[in-house]
Amino acid sequence: MRQPLVIANWKMHGKSAFNEALVTEFLALLKAYRAECALCPPSVYIEQVAGLLRSSNVMLGAQDCSHIAEGAYTGEVSAEMLRDCGCGWVIVGHSERRQYHQESDALLAAKLAMAQRADLKPVLCVGETQEQREAGEAEQVVKTQLQGALGDLSDFRRLAIAYEPVWAIGTGLTASPEQAQAMHAFIREVVRELDARSAESLRLLYGGSVKPGNAAELFAQADIDGALVGGASLDPEAFAAIVSAA
Ligand code: PGA
Repeated sequence: MRQPLVIANWKMHGKSAFNEALVTEFLALLKAYRAECALCPPSVYIEQVAGLLRSSNVMLGAQDCSHIAEGAYTGEVSAEMLRDCGCGWVIVGHSERRQYHQESDALLAAKLAMAQRADLKPVLCVGETQEQREAGEAEQVVKTQLQGALGDLSDFRRLAIAYEPVWAIGTGLTASPEQAQAMHAFIREVVRELDARSAESLRLLYGGSVKPGNAAELFAQADIDGALVGGASLDPEAFAAIVSAA
């Protein structure tokens, strides 16, 4: 049985006062829940959010890490620094990083290795664009992303994968539970080819306009083990409802 995992991706949102109110209210609303949960604020607020989460079971994560351990790389933040500041998780290869920062699968492979070396658990994001889906290429695109980023990975146990169809991110469009389940089952098959031992225990998250209204039917699918939540994670009530649904 895979423990559900729900991760909040705040993206480039938040300020000190907003963060404090958001986390405080979210923790107060969070009643009994079974899921593992992590918040990924912008890196400058990681220490603040670490303090706010101190007396809870909610974990801390980051939205990205460098593919290099340390050195003269202005503006970069290393996986080890994130671990040092209390992060347990790190998002790697979000489609916005792939699109706006030209992150390649080879670069992501290096980031995954760096994260695991620093004892951070990476969440690798994969997903196709609208054009790719319409051209019938969705599975091939996702397979190429998985093979490119995971081909050299040695430890699949400290990893999660998020399927985030690019056309569903921040658009209000969600993949139907059946569409999402079909791709999740496909992803598990691809992982089985890469590492047969961990395919069953690997957690596969769905991301793309997850809301309280669609979370339960997504989580009811056999291969959907949780969610990576953007917009709705900035609303304490909505995010608490999603975590409770998992
Ligand atoms: P969204 O974002 O929930 O706002 O669609 C999800 C994500 O990009 O991780």
